[in-house]
Amino acid sequence: MSDHVEIVRDGARLEIHLNRPDKKNALTGAMYAAVAEGLASAEREPGVLAVILAGRGQAFCAGNDLADFMANPPSGDDSPVARFLRAISTATKAVVAAVQGPAVGVGATMLLHCDHVVASEEASLQFPFARLALVPEAASSLLLPRVVGPLAAAELMLTGDPLPAAEAKRLGLVSRVVPSGEALAGARAFAARLEGLPPEALRETKRLLRATSQDVATRMAEENALFRRQLGSAEFAEAARAFLEKRKPVFAR
Ligand code: COA
Repeated sequence: MSDHVEIVRDGARLEIHLNRPDKKNALTGAMYAAVAEGLASAEREPGVLAVILAGRGQAFCAGNDLADFMANPPSGDDSPVARFLRAISTATKAVVAAVQGPAVGVGATMLLHCDHVVASEEASLQFPFARLALVPEAASSLLLPRVVGPLAAAELMLTGDPLPAAEAKRLGLVSRVVPSGEALAGARAFAARLEGLPPEALRETKRLLRATSQDVATRMAEENALFRRQLGSAEFAEAARAFLEKRKPVFAR
């Protein structure tokens, strides 16, 4: 388990808070494992109707921890990141995200698996895989074009530029934009709207709305193989070192 993930049960909702604000909630293997366990515990608990994903501090999530990724590259289907992605993409409870500040990499792609996304006005989403010499993950290469259309997806994924919350709302990646500091309250308000509703009907409705689980699993497997290959590449080593050394990367042509 990780000290950097806090799990709080409150009535019909289970809240998972990323709590590593000094590193903008970048996810280590231990954090992935803890979030996966949080999602699994929500599945086991009949009284839980909604899971809230949130981050403490000024950022929702800066994605994979690049130092941890280099030191402990994920090795297969049982890696913590793979367990997390399986858990979020197969969750049967409603998953609600409260996004403040940047949501980068898997911090943004995990939102594609959420049923409701509340973002504060200064939030932004960023998919910087290509510029980091990686490829999209979390089935985002399938889900992002479905949500925003192929041209907008190409612009977001090829440039890796941040997308402001208001634009993310216009593209359908965010459900509501709220004033700064109110994302968690907005997520809780959505979860409260589910209280008292019939749990079985909620689960089946969510399943029908996301009737793509086979496609998602297949695409994730394909992405994972490419992602692991790129993690071992010289260009990723340069991109990650450059980020940690706070300099511009230089790639061989
Ligand atoms: N992995 C490892 N460390 C990270 C990190 C990541 N993904 N994201 C941020 N950090 C660390 C920084 O190295 C810095 O550490 P330091 O204080 O020891 O120097 C600290 O978190 C704060 O980050 P900083 O970049 O100074 O904050 P910022 O407010 O200027 O920018 C972000 C915030 C999220 C926009 C920026 O940190 C960022 O772009 N992170 C990289 C995200 C990324 O590429 N993720 C995809 C990985 S697949």
